[in-house]
Amino acid sequence: MQSQHSHFKRLLNPQTQQITLPTEYPDYSKVEYWNARYTEERGITYDWYLPWKKTSGAQVGMRDIIVPRLYDDKESEILVLGCGNSELSAKLYAEEGFHYITNADYSRVIIEEMKERNAHMEEMDYVEMDITEPLDILDSESFTLILDKGCLDCVACSQDNAGKVRQMLDNVHRTLAPGGTYVCVSHGRPEMRLAQIQGTAGYKWTVEVQKVQKRPAGLEVLERVDSEQYYYIYICQKRY
Ligand SMILES: C[S@@+](CC[C@H](N)C(=O)[O-])C[C@H]1O[C@@H](n2cnc3c(N)ncnc32)[C@H](O)[C@@H]1O
Repeated sequence: MQSQHSHFKRLLNPQTQQITLPTEYPDYSKVEYWNARYTEERGITYDWYLPWKKTSGAQVGMRDIIVPRLYDDKESEILVLGCGNSELSAKLYAEEGFHYITNADYSRVIIEEMKERNAHMEEMDYVEMDITEPLDILDSESFTLILDKGCLDCVACSQDNAGKVRQMLDNVHRTLAPGGTYVCVSHGRPEMRLAQIQGTAGYKWTVEVQKVQKRPAGLEVLERVDSEQYYYIYICQKRY
């Protein structure tokens, strides 16, 4: 995982201007971590991995990946997993006209903040939920598009990694409509993620993997010792 701001200042010694590389990483699988972070960062907007639109530092934007898959059907039901304080859903709503968006996150802090922030986007929902729990509140085959930018990566950090990853993907697979697409943007290389995403029992989707080169490393990126060069986009289309 790689974040671009909150820990950086703590690593740069203002007297010596020396950077200390971290020896321990936060536990991104814990809701306590996210609640504390979102309390500290109240009011900010931040997009992990890829921005909404292509910029000079990013090869591709989420818009290019998502919008063509919605076939201009403004009635599309969209689920955003681990929505955080990303601007993605608000952009889809306000700039592209897709209003039926359910945003899910297990951090109560960010769900309350985003609900308030986007209250004027009346058809958009915010729901506090842990995607690794069996989720009866979500109807089967109800979403045309499920978006996940960094959420599976957090779940994969947990101790009970395999069980939680499977429960999350079972939920995604069950709630995705036939013909619908699950788009997962991840740090995880195909050697690691593909077996999880394809599922041992075999999910009924075809998986395409794209890779995107990360932004050129600037000083900020030194927050993490990050030897990986790419983000991977797993595009899973559920068969009819
Ligand atoms: C790396 S951040 C990505 C945020 C946002 N999607 C983005 O692209 O900027 C991961 C988000 O997933 C949420 N998350 C992690 N594990 C989760 C779980 N088990 N259920 C629901 N949300 C989870 C975190 O609270 C956090 O907001």
